[in-house]
Amino acid sequence: MRKPLIAANWKMNMLRWEAQELARSFLEKVPDLTAYSDVVLIPPFTVLDVVRGVVDGTHVKLGAQNVFWEERGAFTGEISPGMLRDAGCEWVIVGHSERRHVLGETDEMVNKKIKASLDSGLNVILCVGETLEERESGKHLKRITGQVEIALSQLELDSPHRLVIAYEPVWAIGTGKNATPDEADYVQGTIREITGNIFGDMAEEVRIVYGGSVTEENIQELIGEPNIDGALVGGASLQAESLAKIVQMGTEASVV
Ligand code: PGA
Repeated sequence: MRKPLIAANWKMNMLRWEAQELARSFLEKVPDLTAYSDVVLIPPFTVLDVVRGVVDGTHVKLGAQNVFWEERGAFTGEISPGMLRDAGCEWVIVGHSERRHVLGETDEMVNKKIKASLDSGLNVILCVGETLEERESGKHLKRITGQVEIALSQLELDSPHRLVIAYEPVWAIGTGKNATPDEADYVQGTIREITGNIFGDMAEEVRIVYGGSVTEENIQELIGEPNIDGALVGGASLQAESLAKIVQMGTEASVV
């Protein structure tokens, strides 16, 4: 049984006072579900300390949205895995589609970032997903296979619980148009097969979550699918009430 993971990707939102208010209000609304699910808040770098101050010692974990693969040195503007650990992060998102498509991140860069993060003790949420054009031309599974294979190549994974793969179709992110549970489940089953080719039996324990316009309206149906082990939530995670509902409803749906 894979324990679901629900992660809130705040993207480039939240000033310090807003982050504090959102984190506090979310914690007040959500019960401790540690036995049934993992919950991670992933704010921008500049408010990691603020959110850490709220979630430290609670059941909610802290993560970052990006990382560089070197530990120190002349890399202006970058943040290393060790710095994220020092800032209280347990998780990091790598290869989000906005970084790939807006900022030019390649599969090879994603691979280096994952290796460095795992080496330094961070747990990784690897994002993969096709564009609308790739889906419409029937090339999506090929694209996703390539993304997963390169991202995970030559990787030493000491525990399956330290890697989460998020299937995030680019056309579903921030558009209000989520993949249907069937569609997502099919692709995520394929991702599990590819992961199995790489890690063998261990892949059965790797969580594969869905992301792209997840809301309190669709979370139950999505998590009800056999290959959907949680969610990466963007827009709907910016409201404490809706994030708390997504966490609660998603956890309940995965327990039954
Ligand atoms: P969304 O974003 O929920 O706003 O679609 C998800 C993501 O990009 O992680």
